[in-house]
Amino acid sequence: MPIWVNDNQFHIETSRTSYIFSLYKNRYLTHLYWGKKLSSDANLSYIPTEFIYSRPNATHVPVDETNRVFVSDLAMEFSVVGGGDYATPTLHARYADNSTVTELSFEGYMVYEGKRDISPMPSTYSEGDAQTLEIYLRDKRSNLKVTLLYTVFCKYDAICRSIIYKNESQDDIYLLSAQSATVDISGTNYEMLHLCGDWARERHIERIPVNHARCVIDSKRGMSGHMENPFIALLEKNAGEYMGEVFGFSLVYSGSFTASAEGTSCGKTRVTMGINDFNFEWRLASGEEFMTPEVVMAYSPCGLSRMSGIYHRLYRDKLCRGRYRGALRPMLINNWEGTTFDFDEKKLIDIAREGADLGLELFVLDDGWFAKRNGACSLGDWYVNTDKLPRGLEYLAKEVNALGMKFGLWFEPEMISPDSDLYRAHPDWCVHAKGRRRTENRSQLVLDISREEVREYILDTITKVLQSANIEYVKWDCNRTLTETSSMEQPHRYVIGLYKMLDTLTTRFPDILFESCAGGGGRFDPGILCYMPQTWTSDNTDPIARLAIQYGTSIVYPPITMGSHVGSIAVGMAGENQFLNTCAMAAMSGNFGYELDLNLFSEAEKAQAKSYVDLYRKIRPTIQYGEFYRLESPFEGDNVSWMFVDSDRAVLFTFQTKKMINGEERRVKLRGLDENALYEYNGERRTGAELMLAGVGIALERYEYASRCRVYEVIKK
Ligand code: DGJ
Repeated sequence: MPIWVNDNQFHIETSRTSYIFSLYKNRYLTHLYWGKKLSSDANLSYIPTEFIYSRPNATHVPVDETNRVFVSDLAMEFSVVGGGDYATPTLHARYADNSTVTELSFEGYMVYEGKRDISPMPSTYSEGDAQTLEIYLRDKRSNLKVTLLYTVFCKYDAICRSIIYKNESQDDIYLLSAQSATVDISGTNYEMLHLCGDWARERHIERIPVNHARCVIDSKRGMSGHMENPFIALLEKNAGEYMGEVFGFSLVYSGSFTASAEGTSCGKTRVTMGINDFNFEWRLASGEEFMTPEVVMAYSPCGLSRMSGIYHRLYRDKLCRGRYRGALRPMLINNWEGTTFDFDEKKLIDIAREGADLGLELFVLDDGWFAKRNGACSLGDWYVNTDKLPRGLEYLAKEVNALGMKFGLWFEPEMISPDSDLYRAHPDWCVHAKGRRRTENRSQLVLDISREEVREYILDTITKVLQSANIEYVKWDCNRTLTETSSMEQPHRYVIGLYKMLDTLTTRFPDILFESCAGGGGRFDPGILCYMPQTWTSDNTDPIARLAIQYGTSIVYPPITMGSHVGSIAVGMAGENQFLNTCAMAAMSGNFGYELDLNLFSEAEKAQAKSYVDLYRKIRPTIQYGEFYRLESPFEGDNVSWMFVDSDRAVLFTFQTKKMINGEERRVKLRGLDENALYEYNGERRTGAELMLAGVGIALERYEYASRCRVYEVIKK
């Protein structure tokens, strides 16, 4: 059993990690260790809780009258308001007497096989491969029961934490901040890595020193958003891709979140993560429970690469679900960048036919197929625009199917246009604050899906469309965030409503592949991946910009989850279209597809485009289910490379993002191969050790286009 209790210490063990905390004075859960695996008889009782340092009483609060132990010295697993811990608390609650002080006492624990369902929050799931520790605490005065959940996926090297707050009193309790986890890590010499950006430049890597500051990232938008991702890593200062200690925290949540790292004066760094307490207050009525979203924690003693590998495997196998979890994802052609709203039946079928000729497997009809939608209107009116598609979706799907392709359709279900039949019928169905202006964004408002009748309407109308034709893929878009909310509960209720809808729809249509999208990659988070196993990574399809976006995204999310297409490009070149090549190389590093009007291609370009489809079909299992290794970072230089490895093949991609006529030697050391095995690389046989230790030389390319890239297959012999 990877969880056991010994000498008042709770031991949680993964295949390579130990996580240990203890119970101190029957009141404080104090963190002792998170790092490389210790032996199963490890006993950390010698780690001082009673510190040898002198703390002046004026500034530090003693634990008891002996004045020898101070609250701020304790490394907390859970922190409250009151009692002398002034770092960010896990819980801030207001009770019937208006007080916000919480005093928890320990009531017991339980260890069991499996994992508790924390719905309405989505989460990782066990298939007989997880164990859980529950710790029970209680604030006796208010009768708030707190259950800390620790689930360990031993084989996956990951620990998941969440908290359940239950009101066991007769009065209301108000949660002002209900975080999912707190971890106090020893030392203050860390950096915090986070993934930031904006529309068209999502998830760029940034590292900031923490030291004795409080570094906070968050979203206040009601969605995880383009600007920050619900993930942070705490890194040793010298840690890099393949060296140094890294502590990763990833939140399975799609709404407003917060994560902070805070160095304290007593020599530890507190990480806190959960739902954002900005514009948040939750009334917990008598008998009710509040589930916090899950934090997935991954430790690596040897850099970011191992941490990413933990998230990739866990999210691919234990977060994504449904028919497509272990299935190869289809190569698609989407009409959006080729036509935007300007299409008719013939134009679409022509694009699909060209796609079929290339060997693509799925045609996706994007925005503009419904009601009067030719611009900013009609969201909410999910019936076919018969001016554009006189024979409807059924006919179109049949035509596409006859070409040997699946048919997919775009929706933006959470939205409503002021210029729509739905809005005219139900002007109060949008998220709004009474008597206030309703801010429009992209000329649209957001439907209040915390309301059951609104959810029912959306589910009914979408269900009818999905049953009207052979639709095997859905792109679920979401192009704006929340602005004026009607209460401090509404943002979280919105997210719960979204999860309920997605749960119903994906259960109702288990064979449909759902891809999420939010103005590109504005909601690329683990919560969404529970329902939709892939996400459109960014609206930016410029390949050089894409390298940074995909590289940053890969810090947490596996390449199979990244929708990655060749977008609209300049065509009609004589000879090989270098830009097309660059685009294809970037797109082949994720879930590959085209997103343009293929009819504009010359015959030579069509042949070139087809060669990428053929190549991707060959390497797809390695890209989608292999291990991913980052080799050269776009955030550190002009050369970028990465590779995918499975048991019998590796695929190396190298990109040169700057035109150069002279340069230094470029040597790339491969990763993840079998040292003693023989591989065929670039027409020659080399051992894994040679390729990984001595590396391979990458020629400098002097091309007119600002980039040059190549793909190399490395085949095990
Ligand atoms: C934003 C998405 O990111 C695009 O791919 C496209 O679907 C448009 N919305 C359509 O409005």
